[in-house]
Order: sequence, then structure tokens, then C-alpha cells
Amino acid sequence: MSKKPYGSSRASAAKVLGESLTINGVTLKNRFILGPMAVLQPLEDGRPSDQSIAFLKRRAEGGVSLVFVGGSVATQRAWDESPFAPNIRFDREEFIPDLARLVEEVHASGALVFAQIFPSFGRMGIPRNGNWPTAASPVPVTIGEHGLPDNVYIPGGMTTPPAHEATADYIKEIEAAVVIAARIARAAGFDGLEIAAHMCYFYSSFLSPHANKRTDKYGGSAKNRARALRDAVHAVRAEVGASFPVGLRMSVNDHLPGGQDSEGFAEVASHIVSAGVDFIALTDANYESMGHNVTSISGSMLHHGEPQAFRKAVGNIPLFLSSTTSPEQAATAIADGVADASMLARQLLADPDYPAKVLGGRESEIVWCDHSNSCLRSLMTNIPVTCHKNPEMGSESPQATRVKAKQKIMVWASGNKPLMSIADRLARARRSHH
Ligand SMILES: Cc1cc2nc3c(=O)[nH]c(=O)nc-3n(C[C@H](O)[C@H](O)[C@H](O)COP(=O)(O)O)c2cc1C
Ligand code: SF4
Repeated sequence: MSKKPYGSSRASAAKVLGESLTINGVTLKNRFILGPMAVLQPLEDGRPSDQSIAFLKRRAEGGVSLVFVGGSVATQRAWDESPFAPNIRFDREEFIPDLARLVEEVHASGALVFAQIFPSFGRMGIPRNGNWPTAASPVPVTIGEHGLPDNVYIPGGMTTPPAHEATADYIKEIEAAVVIAARIARAAGFDGLEIAAHMCYFYSSFLSPHANKRTDKYGGSAKNRARALRDAVHAVRAEVGASFPVGLRMSVNDHLPGGQDSEGFAEVASHIVSAGVDFIALTDANYESMGHNVTSISGSMLHHGEPQAFRKAVGNIPLFLSSTTSPEQAATAIADGVADASMLARQLLADPDYPAKVLGGRESEIVWCDHSNSCLRSLMTNIPVTCHKNPEMGSESPQATRVKAKQKIMVWASGNKPLMSIADRLARARRSHH
């Protein structure tokens, strides 16, 4: 493996990124993937809308080989406690025809579609509708103390209420629901799925000793902390069969004093993959160290050595890079064997044609995301996401209906002073633009 710093090779980036990649029998035509983003504006009941489909089709037309349907829920609880509602539901068999329409339309635009399945939101669940957040252990999430993304401010920080400790029965209930969601995704024609096990959400709370204080068979050693997720993968695999791509979205580093590093997360992953994992979407950090998660620095994951640690621990399982917008960095990582694809989020909001431009040698035409993070601020306060670099974003469908921002801000942020203050400032900024 090369020792040269990432980004030093400019040669043939387009060639490397234009190569196909096969994941458990499904072939991606190139190495560009649309990462999951809860920007899909589903219908109020959780079915995909025309806008959900139009958003994804536009990214497919821009050249990605695979799109993820972000922020999709597997359970009534996840629907009830979601921090960024409404979500697309995978717990309703009657929605299969709507989901199938989404898949067919994205296929017709040239990309594959994987579902991102949220079992529940764990430490990030909002206490709502009679539910209390439930996670591996009652460890609150403190946001803001160890760095926020550029241009995101939470005055005084924010601390979530301590979750209830999940009982063994609850863990099995969630597992059974994930199996049903996988069945629904498969029946709707999805090409694969990932289980969301990152960012302080339910399964993530088991993986690191920072969040998992249990002394039963789900806590302690790396093998025990892997158990809940490993069992879920095993059960999903039994449901969907051997030849359906199933992956994980995992945080790869706590980036916290005393937290788990990439070697620790990679060790946990090594206990899960043999249950039937076909890919891992690597996600840096979590809400407690969110500056590393929604970074402004291309290739930071490669500089931290996280994909390298995972490669060492899990062998040749395809690994998706995050936040590596420099084509040369992504291509170098792939050529060096430390990752297999570049999964991008904000850059594909700003410029859906980024993949076609890179592959077609038109890099000078790329509209670059400026990391202002107004999209993220909108998500955090439940305002429909837009992008000032791309006026089309959020209304790709002529039928796109805009949720009334003021109403939504109140639903999410009321009772939470820091978020209210952000919401207020955003609302004032929006008013001053009109
Ligand atoms: C508006 C917005 C919505 C997001 N929604 C999700 C989501 O539903 N699921 C998820 O796993 N990550 C979500 N993310 C995180 C991104 O997938 C990604 O990990 C993060 O933005 C860093 O990647 P980037 O540098 O390519 O933007 C979201 C990010 C943004 C900005
Ligand atoms: S609003 Fe657009 S340009 Fe700004 S960070 Fe988000 S995607 Fe990038």
C-alpha cells in the first residue's frame, strides 16, 4: 500500500472513479454514491412524494451509480421519535407500491437504490407520543462541547435527556422490526439496504464503551458490544437470503476524550461482518463531535486513518468514504485499496452533476459546496432543506409542496432553548430575505 499523502496523485482520477464495483452481485456503474439525506419531503403519512422521487432521479441523472433513500424508518417508535420528521416509512406493507414506484423511477434514470433503515433513534430520540428515548445505556448526548460544523451555533450547547436502558426484549423487538423493514424493501424492488448504526442512534449506542455501560451480554468486550447489531444483521440475512446486499452505516471514531478510536470501532465491526455484511458506509464521529461528522475538509477521514483501520480489520468488504469531495483524493484512496467508493452528501445538493463533470473531465464546471451548512441548520430545526448554491434543490418536482417552516420549527424546537434561539434567528433571516 502506498505511503504517499492523499491527494498527491492527480493522474487518472476519472478512470478510477469511473470503474464499476460489484457488491454481492449488484453492479454499481461507477464509484459515486449519493449518501443518505433526510431531504426527501415525503408525504405526511410517510409515503414517498413526487418530490422525493424527483430529488433522487435528478441525482441519478447527474451520474451517481447508487442513491440512498435517507432517514427511512423501520418502526412506529422511530416514526414517533424522529428528530427530523416526516420520514419515509418501511414498516407499512401497504406502502410497497409507492416504494416500488420510487425504485422504478430511479432505475429509469440510471442508478441503483438502497434503503437506509433507522430501527429507532436511540440517544437522539425525541421524547414524544408517549415514548422515552431508549438506548444501550442512559448516557445523554452533549452537543457543542467538542466542536460543531462550520457555521452551526448552539449557544450554551445542548444535552439530551438520559435514555432508558433497553431491555433484552426491547432489543429483540427492534430486531424483528428491522427484519420486516428489510422484507418490505426487498418486496418493493430495492437493490439493497443499510442498517443505520451511527450518530448516537439505537445500534450506535451499543458499539462504543463511551455510550455502552452495560454489564450483560450486550456490554463490556468488543464482541458483546457488537452483539445487538450482529444479531440484527444475522436475522435480516436470514430474511432476505444470501444474494441481497445488506450493509451497515457505522460511526468510525468517537473523536472524544476517552472515547473509542477507529481501531476500536474496526474491532467491533470485525465481530459483525461475518453475520452477512456486504458493505460498510463509514461515518466520521457522531453528534457529540459533529464538527468531524459534517466536515469542511475533504479527505479528513483518510487523514485520520479510519478507512485504513477498517480495511485492516474487515478485509475486502467494500468501504464507502465520506466527505471526500476531491476526486484525486477519492481516486487515490480507491487505487490504494483503502476504500471502494465515494459517498457524498452536500456536494450533491449543490451540484447533482458533479459525478458526470468529474467523469467527463469537466471539473472546472463543478459548482462547489461552500460548507456554509445552511442545509444542516435547516435540517436541525426542521425547516425544509434548500441550497443557496442550487436554487433547484428541494423543488425538483413541479409538484413539490413546501411545509410551512414556522409551524415545523415550533414542533421540534419548543422547550429547547438553544434550538429555539437558532430557530428564531433563522426565521428572522428568512423574513429579512422576503
Ligand atoms: C441536510 C442533511 C441531511 C442529512 N440526512 C441524513 C440522513 O438522513 N441519514 C444519514 O445517515 N445522514 C444524513 N446526513 C449526513 C450526511 O449523509 C453526511 O454524512 C454528512 O453530510 C457528511 O458528508 P458530506 O461532507 O458529503 O456532506 C445529512 C446531512 C445533511 C447536510
Ligand atoms: S447549503 Fe448548499 S452550499 Fe451550503 S453547505 Fe449545504 S449543500 Fe453546501
